[in-house]
Parts: sequence; structure tokens; C-alpha cells
Amino acid sequence: MYDTEEMLILCENAELSSHAEALSEKLHIPRTSELSKAVRNGLYLELSEEGLSLSDGDMDVKGDFSHLLPRLIKGRLNTEFLVKAAKIKGKDILYVVDATAGLGEDSLILAAAGFTVRLYEKDPVIAALLEDALLRASQDPELQDIVSRMTLCTADSIEVMPSLSPSPDVILLDPMFPERHKTAAVKKKFQLIHHLEKPCEDEEALLNAAIAAKPRKILIKRPVKGPYLCGRKPSYSIAGKAVRYDCLVFPEN
Ligand SMILES: C[S@@+](CC[C@H](N)C(=O)[O-])C[C@H]1O[C@@H](n2cnc3c(N)ncnc32)[C@H](O)[C@@H]1O
Repeated sequence: MYDTEEMLILCENAELSSHAEALSEKLHIPRTSELSKAVRNGLYLELSEEGLSLSDGDMDVKGDFSHLLPRLIKGRLNTEFLVKAAKIKGKDILYVVDATAGLGEDSLILAAAGFTVRLYEKDPVIAALLEDALLRASQDPELQDIVSRMTLCTADSIEVMPSLSPSPDVILLDPMFPERHKTAAVKKKFQLIHHLEKPCEDEEALLNAAIAAKPRKILIKRPVKGPYLCGRKPSYSIAGKAVRYDCLVFPEN
């Protein structure tokens, strides 16, 4: 686990220095304009013309939605297991809360399918990477309409969900970054994020907070052979090759 108090923000471009300063104040992370200092330090956030990335000097990870574009084609979206699992019969426009937003990829798929998504991410560094990805996407003609349906809140969803009003139709829970990917490069990227991510110690509190929000459905993303979250048997599951969606369905309030 990496302590963000030991991190630095690297910004070598003087034109971005006020943005870097604002980020430094917001995240309480000191900034530097010297690459060697950042690399010596270990893990750092780099702000450049290409956006914000997390780096260990060797590999970096950035919130990026553009690689998902091939999956966002209208006909294809309805074949996504996530979209199938999120749907509620007889209701076209759904309000979804993504309680564990991460880098926002699942939320993007849902927003592309027409859902309105409120994203909660409690880790301020991951939230900053996601905020940057959303900002860049809002300037991309292929993504701007989709991200206009996504709202990010840097907050602990366990604290927020019980008092959400109105109740969301669907809550998505994906508390861990499990080993879903096979290539070494992708694994390395997830290791970088793991530096920041504290394991969700309180899965039960997360599930209970989601239930307290009174949604019609809770969607739990699991590795295909993973155990049920908190051992709670779902109403039904939809499984692909690597991922399974366990759906808890509740009667209409
Ligand atoms: C596996 S990742 C989610 C990945 C995401 N589904 C995606 O598509 O990019 C889990 C994320 O949930 C966040 N998280 C865990 N518990 C949380 C909580 N109580 N409130 C908000 N975020 C939480 C973690 O910091 C982590 O970034």
C-alpha cells in the first residue's frame, strides 16, 4: 500500500502550472517540475498536455474512455452483459448509482446505453484520474453526449447511499479490482492502481448501504467463479467468460 502523503505531482509544462497547483492543493500532494525528483520519489501523478496519469516511472495509468469506443456502437451495447443485467422491464430511462466508480469504465458503458449515472469514488487520486478522463471526454465529439449523463462525486458511497433521494433504480457494486485480465502489461497497470486501493474491508457495510438506498436492483460485478458478495445469494446472475453480474431484485417501493 502506498501512502499518498509520499506522492508528488509532476508538471513540466509551465502553461499547466496553475492547474497543477490547484490539484496539489486539492489532493494535499506537493508538486515538482523535475522528472528526476518525481521518479526518485516512487509513485507520482503527472500532469501534461495529454492529461493526468499515475506513474511509477516505468508504467503509467490514465483514465481513458477512447479505447472503449468500439464497444459503444448502438447495436453492440445491447449485447453487453452489464447493460443486460442493469435493465429493468418496462422502464426505459434508468438512474444508476455506481458506488465503486474506479476509472469509470462500467459507468461509461451504462451511460452509452442511455442510463443516467452518478459515480462515487472514495479514493481522491483515483477520483482525480477519473475526473480528468471525464473532462477530456467532454471535449471529444464521440464521447461528449455520453459523459453528459455521468456525474462524479468524490465520496464514500457507504456514507452517502442511505440518504440518497430519489432512490436510484439500480446500484452497481464492483468493490475490488480482481485479476480479470491476462496480459502482463494490463496486470502491471492494475498493480499501479493497487498501490492506492485499499481492499474494501467492509463489503457488508457497502451492501447494507446499497440496500438502505432502496433501489429496484443491486448489480454486483464478480469474477466469473468468485463467491457471492457477503455470501448473499442473488435473485439471478448473468455470466460472461470472465465476469458475472449477480442481480438482487427488490419489489417496487
Ligand atoms: C474495482 S474498482 C471499480 C472499477 C470500475 N467498475 C470500472 O469500470 O472502472 C473499485 C473502486 O471502488 C472504489 N471504492 C471502494 N469502496 C468504495 C466506497 N465505499 N465508496 C466509493 N468508492 C469505493 C475503490 O477506491 C476503487 O477505485
